Amino acid sequence: MAATVSDILLDWYDRHARDLPWRAPPGTPPPDPYRVWLSEVMLQQTTVAAVKPYFEAFTRRWPDVAALAAAPEDDVMAAWAGLGYYSRARNLVKCARAVAARGGFPTTEAELRELPGLGAYTAAAVAAIAFAQRAVVVDANVERVVARLFAIDTPMPAARKPIRVAADAITPARRAGDFAQAMMDLGSSVCTAREPKCLLCPLAKTCKARA
Ligand code: ADE
Repeated sequence: MAATVSDILLDWYDRHARDLPWRAPPGTPPPDPYRVWLSEVMLQQTTVAAVKPYFEAFTRRWPDVAALAAAPEDDVMAAWAGLGYYSRARNLVKCARAVAARGGFPTTEAELRELPGLGAYTAAAVAAIAFAQRAVVVDANVERVVARLFAIDTPMPAARKPIRVAADAITPARRAGDFAQAMMDLGSSVCTAREPKCLLCPLAKTCKARA
């Protein structure tokens, strides 16, 4: 049987996954949902390099969601200083308190979406990465990869819908978290916005934009 996009990409991820403090190595059980959620909130509009020291500082000071829920909001705001988009920090505290009150993170995308401040992207990312649920995880990097892979040349924002449909079609039922993070890694290291490194791309042969 012909290898699917997800087979090829997961195989690439097994060899090239970035080692990041909030990740579990490829093919291993999911990481702590608290760490996944915290990292995904921090990574919105912020680079991996900028997030790393903040992630380390937060998890050292508040090692679990109950600790963060118990923290005075001012302490969290002060620790967040420098990361920007401060509404994220206020929502972080609100969400931590809601999660602590219900005794832990819910495990489905739909329930995650109901938590305060948790948007569609974050709900899908946490469901896939922390709970191994099949969820379609689409951020700006993934949008670019999918648009190229299927040569979707509709301008934004109209392209969002066909990109989502195409992303859904290639998302596997198994290893959903690894697949989501493989797409992110491909987008940030290979399928870059300018000068994509197609010679290094595991999907070059199937890429319609490349053809
Ligand atoms: N950007 C957003 N989420 C990410 C993740 N889990 N790994 C790498 N980059 C990301």
